[in-house]
Amino acid sequence: MEAIEALINRVSIPRVGSELPDDSELEIIFKAALRAPDHAQLRPWRFLTISGDDLFSLGELFLEAQLQDDAALSNVAQVKVKSKVLRAPLIVVAIASLQKHPKVPEIEQMLSAGAAVQNMLIAAYAQHIGAIWRTGSMAYHPVVRDGLGVCEDEKIIGYIYMGKGESKARVPTDLVVEDYVSQWKSV
Ligand SMILES: Cc1cc2nc3c(=O)[nH]c(=O)nc-3n(C[C@H](O)[C@H](O)[C@H](O)COP(=O)(O)O)c2cc1C
Repeated sequence: MEAIEALINRVSIPRVGSELPDDSELEIIFKAALRAPDHAQLRPWRFLTISGDDLFSLGELFLEAQLQDDAALSNVAQVKVKSKVLRAPLIVVAIASLQKHPKVPEIEQMLSAGAAVQNMLIAAYAQHIGAIWRTGSMAYHPVVRDGLGVCEDEKIIGYIYMGKGESKARVPTDLVVEDYVSQWKSV
């Protein structure tokens, strides 16, 4: 797929296909992530890939976190928590690794890490791999952070659900550029 085509048509796929992307496709996705703009080349990111039986373990971790907040969580709700992570054959946990730097504040490093995720989404879409960026309370819960080995100076910025095969891409809303762009003039 042409780069411009992917850039202007990319959509999230909430129900991704059940097939794991190939290693070569994933290599491209992560190479794209690593080309995000990055002030002072701090590489303020790292990624965890979770697939197979480890998705069940992630579900258990999410449940442990939820039970800490609400020990009376119903059985139905517990099953729902665990099943959420099974919506894709692969989840990439995107982590912003923030460093103290005299010229690059945290916000810039967060933006870089976010740009890395966006590059991943576009690289996935361009290879016909469904993907969606999700967060929710499980991105911020201390139990989950601990379970995933996230350090104090790191933040989980997203769970990228990915999968290929049967999936339906919606046609994105055609936003009017002029609604968001205007020319600033000095007088
Ligand atoms: C930081 C971030 C977190 C998000 N978290 C969620 C989420 O937890 N659940 C969800 O359904 N969508 C979430 N979204 C939105 C979807 O990823 C997606 O962008 C949205 O559904 C619009 O679809 P589109 O990307 O095709 O325009 C999040 C987006 C961002 C940027």
